[in-house]
Amino acid sequence: MYPHLFTPFQVGPLTLKNRLTMAPLYLGYADLGGAVSPVLLEHYRLMAASGVAMVVVENAAVDFENGSGSPRTLRADTDAHLDGLKRLAAAIKEAGALACLQINHAGRFAHVPQPVAPSAVDTFGRLARALTVDEMKRIVERFAAAAGRVEKAGFDMVELHGGTGYLLAEFLSPRTNRRDDAYGGSLENRRRFPLEVLAAVKETVNRIPVGYRFLVDEWLDDGLKPEEATRFARDLEAAGIAYISAMGGTYESFGRPEIIERSRRPGYMLALSAAVKAQVEVPVIAAGRLSTGKVCEKAIAEQKTDLIGLGRVLWADPDWPRKVADGREDEIIHCNPDCGDACMQMVMKGRPALCVSWPPEKMKTWKTKFA
Ligand SMILES: Cc1cc2nc3c(=O)[nH]c(=O)nc-3n(C[C@H](O)[C@H](O)[C@H](O)COP(=O)(O)O)c2cc1C
Repeated sequence: MYPHLFTPFQVGPLTLKNRLTMAPLYLGYADLGGAVSPVLLEHYRLMAASGVAMVVVENAAVDFENGSGSPRTLRADTDAHLDGLKRLAAAIKEAGALACLQINHAGRFAHVPQPVAPSAVDTFGRLARALTVDEMKRIVERFAAAAGRVEKAGFDMVELHGGTGYLLAEFLSPRTNRRDDAYGGSLENRRRFPLEVLAAVKETVNRIPVGYRFLVDEWLDDGLKPEEATRFARDLEAAGIAYISAMGGTYESFGRPEIIERSRRPGYMLALSAAVKAQVEVPVIAAGRLSTGKVCEKAIAEQKTDLIGLGRVLWADPDWPRKVADGREDEIIHCNPDCGDACMQMVMKGRPALCVSWPPEKMKTWKTKFA
């Protein structure tokens, strides 16, 4: 029925058994302090057993103290968390999927009194502090060390988080990078820091491919636009990136009425992945309400993406891949575009997320896990 969706696909040295991946989704299931918890393991076992070829685990901090998005953000910043990460990678692989972990510095969106950024820009009423070049060098080292731990923990891949308006994206963006040194101004300068991070990470990891969550469009008038972003995509390709996972928006644009409206539509970010795919040969992943087999198949057939990223789509219904494969799509439990982004609201309040579309029995069971 879907000639592309269930065919294998090569990412660097790795063979994905089909075109389906789980997109990274932070749900607040780690312990306070960022340790891998039993409920997090259970969640990722379920996601990996769904039939997707690869699970990209939510962002893990490269510097928990200064650069984590929340007190429940996973940690890849100390060896003390290596055992937990090993259990996480093993759980995903035992359940039949390749395991990838996303690493991140949250920059000006970090959960700290004074977050850092490329420049001193206002961030929802707080002024971020501009990083010094010495501090930037230490962050580069932290990304490399974190990626080394990801490899040591047994993950098959590591992904750099260059999306959502976090630190790597902040350097690319003309809106948040107003530096007048070698790291600001022209695109050539703004891309320097993320490329230094990638180079250091690639030097540290020996066996595993490195992917990139990629901000194509900030959806803000003075923000990063596809024209510049796609030039950066070519830089990443030249620097040896294994795949590019396209997304749009940051915390400053997600709440705009026209973006809320756009985000309700199936495949709402496919134009972004298509813009990247037109410029590079490396595999591209798309996400954004890829909610039916037809939408996904068409996106691949029309060369808008190579791989499908399922975030809330898979979390709402971990049987999505089987139902699509078996022609039982009428049984899919869909992420509800009218729920007011309930999962996002829950995690922003520091609570573990529960999907309001889940059947009552499942909701009850998962509620008790956090009681
Ligand atoms: C609650 C929530 C948490 C998310 N966490 C991450 C994350 O940790 N890293 C990331 O790159 N994207 C994250 N995203 C974005 C998703 O990966 C995905 O791009 C987006 O949800 C659209 O796909 P979907 O409609 O299948 O959910 C998150 C999105 C939501 C709603």
